[in-house]
Parts: sequence; structure tokens; C-alpha cells
Amino acid sequence: MKLSVAIDGPAGAGKSTIAKMVGDRFNLMYINTGSMYRAITLSALEKSISYEDVDGLCELMNDLDMEFQNDELILNGENINNKLTLPDISANVSNYAAVLEVREKLVHLQRKMSEKYNVIMDGRDIGTVVLKDAPFKFYLTASPEERANRRYNELQRKNIDVNYDKILEEIKKRDYIDSHREINPLTKAEDAIEIDTTSMTVDEVVNVISKHISSNLDRIIIKRGNDIQ
Ligand code: CDP
Repeated sequence: MKLSVAIDGPAGAGKSTIAKMVGDRFNLMYINTGSMYRAITLSALEKSISYEDVDGLCELMNDLDMEFQNDELILNGENINNKLTLPDISANVSNYAAVLEVREKLVHLQRKMSEKYNVIMDGRDIGTVVLKDAPFKFYLTASPEERANRRYNELQRKNIDVNYDKILEEIKKRDYIDSHREINPLTKAEDAIEIDTTSMTVDEVVNVISKHISSNLDRIIIKRGNDIQ
């Protein structure tokens, strides 16, 4: 059995930065499930397929091959990561992510990855659906204003022209859609450890998570016969 760590939480809570660092510490493959939903959104928008066109989306997904290399998503052999955080994708992704067929396809793919590798996966439904049996689950939060601030700085660093108020509004809208959708909404798994990162540094969050994993790892390996090679 492989070892898995689930990280969930709303947009901008710091999931990807933290998951990457914890993954490095424990030699886990980092799977950013949000980038998979974003990749479908990107491809659908490029081909003008609306989120309401389920047949069109299913056909599109049949032709999409996804794998992770060095923490980045490779779509049909191409590294498309610099396109995935563009504002147009962020503004549309939650609508595509609410489509049952899209979720079924990606959850299946994510589970297959977790059967093959020791993983740290971040997203919205990892602890509740994708890796329900994961021995380590964390739920990261922060105030909407702090999350918008982080996203604003991240996009500015990438020289993408952004407006703070618009980002805050988009984050609140996405939070609403993600936590109110019918299928696998964003919610904290009962057995997840919640960490409010509003006034914490990245290193502090990584340390809290790493400490918890380190101090329970031996017990988990013995109990579940995890393969940590
Ligand atoms: O990085 P950020 O938190 O802004 O978002 P993300 O992790 O890239 O996810 C983008 C969107 O994909 C989310 O707002 C959700 O609508 C959707 N998503 C999902 O539904 N389930 C997941 N496991 C991951 C992402």
C-alpha cells in the first residue's frame, strides 16, 4: 500500500506551496489536482466548448493525456503550467469542475496515481473523496482578504496585470461555487487537521505538518504496511 497525504482548502490558502515543500521533505510525488481541472478548462476554452456541453467535454477528455513531471502537469506531452493560472482560467474553472463527468474522470486518474506512487495531493475533495483512506489529512484555511493578497502578489511576480478587488471578488465567488456544488463540494474531512494560516509563514505551516507526519509515520507504516520506498 502506498503512503498518501491529502491537503484541502479554499483558493489561495497556500496548498500548493506547502504541499510541494512537504513532498520534498518526505520524498512524495506532488499532485496538484487543481491544475488538472485547470487544464481541462484551458483546453475547453481553446476549443470553445462550454461547461454545459457535456458530450463535447467527454470527447475532449478522451484525447487528453495527463501526467506529472517535477511537480508540473504535462498535457499531451506539453508543459502548459504557465497558462494555467491566467485570470481567464481562474474565472471559469469552478464551472467546469462542477460537471459530474469531469470529476469522475479526474478522480479516477488521481486514484490511479496514488496507487502507483507515494503522493501528496492538494485540492478540494482529496480527504473527503479521492483519498478517503489517507492516513494524513490537512485542511488549510486563511481569511479571504489574506488569500486574495497572496494571489495578488503571486500574479504580480509573474508580471500578470491584476487588480486586488477583482481577485478578492473572484476568490469569494469560487469559494461559493466550490463549497455549494452538488458533487463533492469543498468541505473539511472529519479526520483532517485544520490549520488557519492567516498569520503564519510558509515555513511555520510546513513545520506543523511535517512534525505531525514525522511523529506518526512509524505507527502508520506498522499499522497499514505502507510501502514508503
Ligand atoms: O490554486 P487555487 O487554490 O486557486 O485553485 P486550484 O487548486 O488550482 O483549483 C482550481 C479550481 O479547480 C478550484 O477552484 C475548484 O473549482 C477546482 N478543483 C476541484 O473542484 N477539485 C479539486 N480537487 C481541485 C480543484
